[in-house]
Amino acid sequence: MTHQLTAEARAFIQECYAFLGKTDTELDARIAEIAREIEETGSYEHTGEELHYGVKAAWRNSNRCIGRLFWNTIHLFDARSASTEAEIRDALFRHIEYATNNGKIRPVITVFRPAKNESEQIRIWNHQLIRYAGFETDDGVIGDPHSVRFTKACLELGWEAKREPFEILPLVIQIGNRPPVWYEIPKHLILEVPIKHPEFTWFEELSLKWYAVPIISEMRLEVGGIHYSAAPFNGWYMEAEIGARNFADEGRFNLLPTVASYMNLDMTTNASLWKDKALIELNVAVHHSYKEAGVSIVDHHTAAQQFKLFEQQEQACGRPVTGDWTWLIPPVSPATTHIFHKLYDNTWHTPNFFYQEKPY
Ligand code: ARG
Repeated sequence: MTHQLTAEARAFIQECYAFLGKTDTELDARIAEIAREIEETGSYEHTGEELHYGVKAAWRNSNRCIGRLFWNTIHLFDARSASTEAEIRDALFRHIEYATNNGKIRPVITVFRPAKNESEQIRIWNHQLIRYAGFETDDGVIGDPHSVRFTKACLELGWEAKREPFEILPLVIQIGNRPPVWYEIPKHLILEVPIKHPEFTWFEELSLKWYAVPIISEMRLEVGGIHYSAAPFNGWYMEAEIGARNFADEGRFNLLPTVASYMNLDMTTNASLWKDKALIELNVAVHHSYKEAGVSIVDHHTAAQQFKLFEQQEQACGRPVTGDWTWLIPPVSPATTHIFHKLYDNTWHTPNFFYQEKPY
């Protein structure tokens, strides 16, 4: 057990210290120190710079992410000293504010202390820090169907909802076996973008909006054998995540029929390609609206070009790029990007982000 941790720590520190340009003397001293620490305490603590390299490498190794060109630019909030629910909440508020940056979105990660054992694990129950609730009713779901189960859990904890289609869920924080605590996110911290179309004036009648910053908060960060169960991170959106999935999936907001009927498309036959036409206009509207609102967003063609640059950079550094093709290809017009026409090795290296069992 501690043997394996020592081995994982050593492998990580070697890679990290090479990246940081440290000397062999520094490397050997640090490895010896970590080995002692593990022997005495059963674990070890990363220094600030080790943790910062760790999160960068975790992003670089994220096989499903098309945005990895920017792995070296992530801002780290080291929140390992936060020990109460209120301190964790405040660190999450700070993350939202700093990442949002009035629309000029900054990639950020906030890392909370790793657990020595399960009973003191910090968990953020939310899938993303900012996300719309979903309420089951007799005539279908109000809001985002993806959130139905978590929304139920929030209501059971005493959250009072207005049951609106774009209602922001509260933050739910749990430390160890203590009861989870929920907090409403202050309105002024949440940036949202009303969706309109550059040509179709009727588009605003749909009353669509989406939030500016996707902050994944349910995944576990693993660095050098240390498991950080709470480490929310964000980049900025690619338009198709919202336009071709969140708004379009039948199991999500399911808007293709609505958009197609406003566009007067022939919906009596698949062959009119009404779904595809509606899909494109949804994506046009999302991209246009974020741009006009001054909120960072990337289209899928540009994202693919940036990913190509990432692949070239990695190759030049002698690091083979791993990837999950099924996630890397964009959900609209995939074959127009180079990614579609290549194979990717889906081996998972650490540091990385991993799914963990839902706590609710
Ligand atoms: N696809 C997810 C969503 O639509 C967000 C995942 C992370 N995306 C990102 N651009 N960093 O909410």
